[in-house]
Amino acid sequence: MSNGADRIDLVVIGLGYVGLPLAQEACRSGLRVTGLDVVPRVIDGLNAGRSHVDDLTDLDIAAMLATGFSATSDASVIARADAVIVCVPTPLGADGGPDLTLVLTSIRTIAEHLTPGTLVVLESTTYPGTTDEQVRPILEEATSLIAGKDFSLAFSPERIDPGNPVYGMKNTPKVVGGHTPECTTKAATFYRQFVDTVVEAKGTREAEMAKLLENTYRQVNIGLVNEMAKFCHELGIDLWDVIEAAKSKPFGFQAFYPGPGVGGHCIPIDPMYLSYQVRARLGAPSQFIELAQATNNSMPAYVTHRAQDMLNTAAKPMNGSTVLILGVTYKPDIADQRESPAEPLAQQLASLGAKVSYFDPHVTNWHVDGVATTRADDLVSGLKNCDIAILVQNHSTMDLDVVAKNAPLLLDTRGKAEGPTVERL
Ligand SMILES: NC(=O)c1ccc[n+]([C@@H]2O[C@H](COP(=O)([O-])OP(=O)(O)OC[C@H]3O[C@@H](n4cnc5c(N)ncnc54)[C@H](O)[C@@H]3O)[C@@H](O)[C@H]2O)c1
Repeated sequence: MSNGADRIDLVVIGLGYVGLPLAQEACRSGLRVTGLDVVPRVIDGLNAGRSHVDDLTDLDIAAMLATGFSATSDASVIARADAVIVCVPTPLGADGGPDLTLVLTSIRTIAEHLTPGTLVVLESTTYPGTTDEQVRPILEEATSLIAGKDFSLAFSPERIDPGNPVYGMKNTPKVVGGHTPECTTKAATFYRQFVDTVVEAKGTREAEMAKLLENTYRQVNIGLVNEMAKFCHELGIDLWDVIEAAKSKPFGFQAFYPGPGVGGHCIPIDPMYLSYQVRARLGAPSQFIELAQATNNSMPAYVTHRAQDMLNTAAKPMNGSTVLILGVTYKPDIADQRESPAEPLAQQLASLGAKVSYFDPHVTNWHVDGVATTRADDLVSGLKNCDIAILVQNHSTMDLDVVAKNAPLLLDTRGKAEGPTVERL
C-alpha cells in the first residue's frame, strides 16, 4: 500500500464487467481504490451502493465503499495513483477491425495526469502490438516520460467469466507481460497483492496474444461441433451422444457443444481482432478463425431452418406461427444480452413471417431491431400459446421437464431436454 494520506493504490478506468470485480478484489486485499468512469448513472449508482453488474450484489458494493472505494469522473485522481488499470470496452469497428477509440481516449486521459513511477496496465482485449505501438507512444509523447524508465507499462488480459460460481478474479491465474522485464516484475508484484497466481509472459505482445489464443481455441472448437451438428443431423447420428462418448477419454479431448450461435465478447469478437491483424500485417487470411466465424454465424439461420422443418412436419407454415424463444441472453443465469444469437434468430424467424415472443426470467425488456418483443410472463402459458418453442439459453431456473411437457414442439439447441415433442439440434 502506498504512503501518504491522499495517495491511491489503484485507479480502475472502466467500471463494467471487468473493472468492477477487479476493483472489488483490490479493495478486499486492503488497497485504496478509486474507480473512474464516464457514465454518470454508473458513478452515481456505485456511490449510492447499487451494482449494475451481474456478478456483484449491492452488498458487495457496500463492502467496497466501506473500504474507502469511490467512483468518479474526475480524472485528476490519476495523478495520485500508484497504479492505473484500463478496463474499457473494445468493440468491433464498422469494418470488422478493432475499435480502440475508448482505449486510446482513456490512455490520453492518463497521459494528462501521469506522474513518474506509476504503473499503467491495459486489460482490455485487443490485438498484439497495441500496448507497444498505440498505448506507449501516446503516454511517452504527451509526458516526455519513458516507459520502462520513468513509468511502468504492461498488458494483462482480463479473464472474467460472468456468472462463473467457481472462478473469479482472485483464483483465476493472471497473465502479465511488461514493456521491459522490470515492468513485468512490477505489474506481477502489484497483481500478487490480490490474485493467487500470476503468470509472467515474455512481453506485452505475448500477453496480448495469450488472450486471443484462449478465445480462438474456443471459437474454433465450437465452430467444429456446430458444423458436425449439421451433418450429424443429416446422417441420423446423435451428436450429443457422440460427445458424451468421446469425453469419456481422460486425455487428449475436451468437450465442446453445438448451439444456436455464439454470444458475449470473447468468442464472436476477440478472434476477429486477430484475423484482422493477420490480414492487415501479412496479407493472409487466418483460415481457421474465419471459417469458425462463418460457421458460428450461420447457426441462427440453421436453427430457423430446423424449426421450419419441425413445423412443416406438423403441417404448419412458419408464416403466421407463434415461436417462443426460451432464454435470450448469451449464456445461462445472467442478464447480459451482448451479441446474443437470440437476436439474429428472432430476425430470421420474423423474416419468414413468424410471430416471435420470448420467455426469460433475467430479461424484462428485449428489443430486436429496436422494437420491443412480446414477453411471456408465465412459462407454461407462453408454451401453451406457441406453435413451437426454441430453447436458446438454458437458465437453471427454467424447468426443462415443464418445458418439454408443455411445448407443442420444442427445438432444443442445448441438448438438455427430453420428451416426445423434443428435437435436439
Ligand atoms: N465482460 C466479459 O465477459 C469480457 C470477456 C472478455 C473480454 N472482455 C473485455 O474486457 C474489456 C472491458 O469489457 P467490459 O465487459 O468490462 O465492458 P463494460 O461495457 O461492462 O464496461 C466498460 C465500462 O467502461 C466505461 N468507459 C467507457 N469509456 C470510458 C472512458 N473513456 N473512461 C472511463 N470509463 C469508460 C463504460 O462506461 C463502462 O462502465 C473489453 O476489452 C472486453 O473486450 C470482457
